[in-house]
Amino acid sequence: MTDSEGLVSAYATDAERDAEVSVRPKRLADFIAQHRVRDQLDLLLRGAKGRGSPPDHILLSGPPGLGKTTLANIVAAELGSGIRVTSGPAIERSGDLAAIVTSLAEGDVLFIDEIHRIAKPAEELLYSAMEDFRVDVIVGKGPGATAIPLDVEPFTLVGATTRSGLLTGPMRDRFGFVAHLDFYSPADLETLLHRSARILGVPITDEGAVEIAGRSRGTPRIANRLLRRVRDFAEVRADGVVNQETARAALAVYDVDDLGLDRLDRAVLVALVDSFRGGPVGLSTLAVAVGEQPVTVEEVCEPFLVRAGLLARTPRGRVATDAAWRHLGRTPPNGTFASGTAAPPDLFSAEP
Ligand SMILES: Nc1ncnc2c1ncn2[C@@H]1O[C@H](COP(=O)(O)OP(=O)(O)OP(=O)(O)O)[C@@H](O)[C@H]1O
Ligand SMILES: [Mg+2]
Repeated sequence: MTDSEGLVSAYATDAERDAEVSVRPKRLADFIAQHRVRDQLDLLLRGAKGRGSPPDHILLSGPPGLGKTTLANIVAAELGSGIRVTSGPAIERSGDLAAIVTSLAEGDVLFIDEIHRIAKPAEELLYSAMEDFRVDVIVGKGPGATAIPLDVEPFTLVGATTRSGLLTGPMRDRFGFVAHLDFYSPADLETLLHRSARILGVPITDEGAVEIAGRSRGTPRIANRLLRRVRDFAEVRADGVVNQETARAALAVYDVDDLGLDRLDRAVLVALVDSFRGGPVGLSTLAVAVGEQPVTVEEVCEPFLVRAGLLARTPRGRVATDAAWRHLGRTPPNGTFASGTAAPPDLFSAEP
């Protein structure tokens, strides 16, 4: 993936995770938008603090870059507790997890990122840790194996997942509080950009923030990333101020269009419209047409294209909406599909 192609990906690169730390809000009051989740968490944490016991386990679900890791750290900060961070893929054996949970201090937060990827035996051990604050560690093999019960200090598990659908029922049931993070409105992203710019010491105008917010795909991570790129441009090619002009010019250099689509997103739409007359076309055929893996098209491009009302997933395949035709400067085929397939009308309700 080249730099410009990765520019509007919601996934973070390793280097970026370091850059993100400086602008990451530390307390609930600094966490922008998501008011419902914030209010609910505030009650949960205050209630627990008042009682002097750890709150229920918390599951944070939602697409990448919307603030799950940020919130996990905020939970620990608001409780004044320690936080232990690990991730589903890092826990291969139940012994790995047993070692972690038995070393927690009372009231600690255990943050398990990508919790849907935890290995099955470890998941089962996690159930008893979450529910009874106890784990059975198996020592030995075969008929001579014995289970040694170990106590676990009361702790709060904060799980994060981008794929809550992959979570098992028993796992989901053990969380007392489930928060689903939603995409951010452009207005919320403007607030976020002003805050980040202040922290980074970057002068930004309202119009500059509007320009970047509108292309950030509802995602704080992308907004912050575009801000850093526009700052580079403003410093090198202009007077250092992020305004409408520098934002537009910088994002043109990086091939991010006015809806926040990058080259691959546009390639998908162009293929749908030009090669398949708007669809419906199967995912794998579409992926071949743009030279990408189906999973990339499905997980990287489609969520935003669907949300922006540009692409619809129908039982018969992917379809370009009228808005997609218009976005590419083409005339939509009379609101019907060129193939003559009628789509259920509500498929287009998300069209802007
Ligand atoms: N509500 C918010 N207010 C301010 N900044 C935010 C907010 N949500 C996210 N951010 C910023 O966006 C960046 C990405 O957030 P975070 O790392 O928490 O996302 P994530 O949901 O954990 O993503 P992933 O699924 O990739 O792990 C952070 O650096 C943080 O500064
Ligand atoms: Mg994260």
